[in-house]
Amino acid sequence: MNDMTKLQPMPWKTTVDESKLPPLPPIPRRRYLDEDFYQLELKHVWRKVWLLVGHETEYEKPGSYRLLDLDLAPVVVVRGKDMKIRAFLNSCQHRGATVLKEKEGCAPVMSCQYHGWTYSLEGKLVGVTQPDTFPHLNPGDYDLPELRCEQWGGLIFINFDKEAQPLREFLTKSVLDRYSPIFESPLRVVWRHAWDFNCNWKLPTDAFREAYHIETIHKKTVFQMIDCQRATTDMNHNGHDTITVPYWPKQAMQEGEWDAIPVLSKLAPLPLAATPEFTANVIEPNIFPNFSMAFQGVGFPIFSFWPVSVDRSRVEVLWLGVDWGDAPKSAEWETLIAGSSIVAEEDLGNLMSIQKSLAADPDKGIPLATKEIAIYQLHAEIDRLIGPENIAPELRVPDILRDFYA
Ligand code: FES
Ligand SMILES: [Fe+2]
Repeated sequence: MNDMTKLQPMPWKTTVDESKLPPLPPIPRRRYLDEDFYQLELKHVWRKVWLLVGHETEYEKPGSYRLLDLDLAPVVVVRGKDMKIRAFLNSCQHRGATVLKEKEGCAPVMSCQYHGWTYSLEGKLVGVTQPDTFPHLNPGDYDLPELRCEQWGGLIFINFDKEAQPLREFLTKSVLDRYSPIFESPLRVVWRHAWDFNCNWKLPTDAFREAYHIETIHKKTVFQMIDCQRATTDMNHNGHDTITVPYWPKQAMQEGEWDAIPVLSKLAPLPLAATPEFTANVIEPNIFPNFSMAFQGVGFPIFSFWPVSVDRSRVEVLWLGVDWGDAPKSAEWETLIAGSSIVAEEDLGNLMSIQKSLAADPDKGIPLATKEIAIYQLHAEIDRLIGPENIAPELRVPDILRDFYA
């Protein structure tokens, strides 16, 4: 047995009294299938809200960059000479070729491979090949289009909407108060990975918004550690929520086959991990629309879910751990990441067959348990942003949980 077995559950005050919930209308299956609805999501959700794209430690020095190959638009996130991290469309303003091609790297300038136009790390057009062939060009009109880019601690978010509310307002005060101590701590990227699936982006998103599946899908892994039947949900405005799952009491802790559990006690935790809320529970915040994590004291995976088309999606995991400074990276991380990948594959293994089965009988609805209210909340927030009047009546999910939002 390991130190985790000493943890005792603490009562967590949830904002949602499940006995007071109204009946939840089933979620129409066509929301995962319908091209028009998908286009509404792109326009009113994905191009309007803040989207997590990485952690500042991935951008070590001026010129460090990463490309985001999104269905929404090609984007480059790059650290400038002034050390500020910015996001631009990866689209040369001459005839649209990409200004950086490798998925990540470090470049002194952004230089288009087509005809060689060059942009500074701050997005200014600084070089036009054979400038005398453009006698009427005003270079100031052709800087790279910049996207909004703001940080929450070390986390970097972008927004395609120039008029969007500031990131911190979008996150809401209760989310900031609760989780800023995590994201403002010294963290480091331990692992980054991506999977592509033939399914709508909401299927993997839904999978991280309930603990109902833990006892079955994760029976040999996380279920050994946490008691999903006592999971609670609290919901915030703007579509954010948290699932809180208590650790088993000592006497009920299982001796499982999942060797990630003993590793947790061998790595240095964040100070916050010693507070009662975090010693008693695995805390799983979901930040709307596409960011889910499971805080485990020494670090956590952040899963992001991206649309590729109506029936294709990409799931990215960004595994952040407590920064180990100049010390060598502990071998324990490998064990933990391997254990975490098993869990991810358990979560994601069903998705493509679910998509097919929804498509095979598209007019049904998906009934939700009280333990699945965060899924309902996700869908209701999507509709709030699209505007119900823009959605076919048979596809709508009415916002009936508003009174439960903190
Ligand atoms: S498209 Fe970039 S220089 Fe021509
Ligand atoms: Fe899961």
